[in-house]
Amino acid sequence: MKTATAIASPNIALAKYWGKREHGANLPAVSSLSVTLAGMSTTTTVLFDEGLDADVLVLDGAVADATSTARVAGLLDRVRAAAGLREHARVVSANDFPTASGLASSASAFAALAVAATAAAGLEVDATWQSDLARRTSVSAARSLFGGFVELRAGRGGDTHLAAEPVATPEHWPLRVVVAVTSEGRKSIGSTDGMLHTVLTSPYYPAWVASAPALFAHIREAILRRDFDALGPAVEQSALLMHAAAIAAAPGVLYWTPATVEVLHAVRRLRASGLAAYATIDAGPHVKVVTTPEHEAAIASALREVPGVLRTIETRVGPGPRVLTRGAEAKA
Ligand code: PMV
Repeated sequence: MKTATAIASPNIALAKYWGKREHGANLPAVSSLSVTLAGMSTTTTVLFDEGLDADVLVLDGAVADATSTARVAGLLDRVRAAAGLREHARVVSANDFPTASGLASSASAFAALAVAATAAAGLEVDATWQSDLARRTSVSAARSLFGGFVELRAGRGGDTHLAAEPVATPEHWPLRVVVAVTSEGRKSIGSTDGMLHTVLTSPYYPAWVASAPALFAHIREAILRRDFDALGPAVEQSALLMHAAAIAAAPGVLYWTPATVEVLHAVRRLRASGLAAYATIDAGPHVKVVTTPEHEAAIASALREVPGVLRTIETRVGPGPRVLTRGAEAKA
């Protein structure tokens, strides 16, 4: 049985990536650095089956649309080419958090798919190979192939291979990330389209690309030194710079809702009251608040009182993906 099931977690970029290099295969224009989150996950089963005449994707219990299925098929094509397989696959994937709402579901989805598909195909490859594979479909997914603190360097013209690399283990620093969930729906504009539009039309895009490397280096250093006071302001600035570039596109790419802004103000009030709290925002309306174990409970209960916050998810720095079952023991 050519089948395997894998589990992977999303990651949150502390130093953001936004924008791809002009030429080349899905290469990020800036370096990024993330934490892999324990407490949210995607579980994916891949079954290569000679009875299928096309790849099938079942996402959270329903057959997925053509666009999502084509992205999955693109990754499967690379696995088939490497393994010398011809069979199409049935892919069954489920998230334990809202899909495509800016909670980084593409990262955990394509990391879990890369691990499940290579295991199902019997490919003996390492996490670096799987990270490069996932990166070709979703840049942020490359980082979810490792646990702990993970970096993905900017692509250079002509790169044919680009994988994320671990910077520190989950045990290095017990940071906490509290997710303030502000909507359960799908986001209006996907990150791929949002960043392409930013690259093409935002006069602030060059400023973002020019300022990202110094912030990345500062954030990397603060993590290695476990220096929260150095980390926090740079994390928040990285997110606000990225969103400023997107908002300045024509027309503006605006992921924020009133609840997003309410949370940003609440985080400032929490800091003023002496709590460790810095915000980051991906391509969606939710806010993720980086904090310490001592302040996590107080931050989470304060965020739940903010108008527009539906609930909070408390996460910690977690491990990379793993294969749950393979071969005859797996069920598709
Ligand atoms: O790689 P994508 O398409 O999932 O883009 C994600 C971009 C951000 O989440 C907004 C930032 C990041 O570095 O993860």
